[in-house]
This record gives sequence, structure tokens and C-alpha cells, in this order.
Amino acid sequence: MLLAAILCAGCGTTSTTPAAAPRPPVIADPGVLARRLAAVQPDWPARRVVDCRRRKCVALTFDDGPGEYTGRLLDMLRDRHVRATFFVLGEMVAADHAGYTRRMVEDGHELGNHTWSHPPLTAMSDERLRSELADTEAIVQRTTGVRMRLMRPPYGATDSRVAEQARLEGLAQILWSLDTLDWRDRDPGIVARRAGAAVPGSIVLMHDIHPTSVAAVPRVLDTLARKGYRFVTVSELYGRAPLPGRTYTGAENPKER
Ligand code: NI
Repeated sequence: MLLAAILCAGCGTTSTTPAAAPRPPVIADPGVLARRLAAVQPDWPARRVVDCRRRKCVALTFDDGPGEYTGRLLDMLRDRHVRATFFVLGEMVAADHAGYTRRMVEDGHELGNHTWSHPPLTAMSDERLRSELADTEAIVQRTTGVRMRLMRPPYGATDSRVAEQARLEGLAQILWSLDTLDWRDRDPGIVARRAGAAVPGSIVLMHDIHPTSVAAVPRVLDTLARKGYRFVTVSELYGRAPLPGRTYTGAENPKER
């Protein structure tokens, strides 16, 4: 109940919720919201103590799933004790009969909201924008028991209106600093080479819906581990839960995080 009262500003777009249901008050200050989220959900995402201002850290992110290759990816990451961040689509979570979404949480990965159906958010009504985020929040929470704190706008398309809606939903906007272009170049060697060029603090964009991207992962892990990188979740990269509504790119100076 407390969780619902605090977190559900912006929820309630499903057909089971009456349109006239009163909405809880919106918490305006992102810092206050982040602290309240942490208070009601202190154990997720579980952050390890990693000082990414001093150590070489990289955050691998996988978008648009979970899909049929996600299980293989989760096996690889588990075998190597690597944590990543998955920006999931609501419609893919709804179709995830294999239970990969829940396994992501169980294996210590971070989940982020990538909308329900992957539309460009800048071109839609406020109501549709809200439901793309809120419906995805709702299904992930129902499926895994956790409330996400991150979102990634499809195509990286964002503006002040999207940022404001993200803030109201308690979500930080996470873009990326290294695009592997793995959706275009379906070649594990090319994808691995691009990801291997990460620098300290990079947020690397990949997609777990492509078998070639999943096949690239062992080489990505080998290359970056050899260079001394630690694989962290997005929240670990910043050393705290990123602030709702704020945009993070992975291109920030690691020393200034
Ligand atoms: Ni995407």
C-alpha cells in the first residue's frame, strides 16, 4: 500500500483501473523521490561497492527484449559473474513465457523501462506517453516484484516533455555513449570490436534480440576484462540510483560522477 501510494503517481492506465480513480500527489523533487524509492525498496537494484570514479567500469546494456536469445545471454553472464542492465519492452515481458524477466532480477541485473511497444515518444500525446511507461512499469512490477528506476527512450528520442513524464514515473533517462550498431551489422566480430573500444564510464548499447549480438558477448567480455574493466549496472556506474527525470549518457567524466 505504501509502495503504491508513493510510487504510483502516473500509474493506472490499464483497463481495469477506472479513469476517474484519484491519483496520488506527485512528488516534485527528484532527490526526495529517489530517497523514498530507496526506502521502500532498499534491496533493489542491489548495488555492489564499486568506486567507478577510480576503477575502470563499463555498463553493458541490452535493449528490446527479453527475446528468444536472452536465456543464452543470461547463462553467459551468470557463468562469468557479470551484471548488466536490460531495457525491456512491456510487450516482450508480456510474451516472456520462459521467465527471463524474473531471472534478470534473480541474477542481479538491473532492469530499465524501454516502453511498451517501442514508439518514438516525442511524437505522441501525453496520455499515450504516460501509458507506454506506466503499463511497462506495471507488468515488470507484477512479474518481478521490483519497481524500475531507469528508462531509455526508444531511438534515444527525447525532449523536455518526455523527461518530465519520466520524472513523474520516478525514472531516470539513460542514453548511451557507445553504440555498437548491432541491429544494423549482424556480425559478432564487428559488434565485439566496437564494444571492445569502451572507455571508463561507457554505457554500451546492444540488443539481446539479435543472435549475433549475443554471440559477440564472450569476446566483448574477454576484451574488456583483459583491459581491466569491471562490468557494472547503470546504477553501480553512478554509485547511486540515478535521479528521476535527469538524463545520463555514460559520457560524463568518471571523476565527476
Ligand atoms: Ni530499442
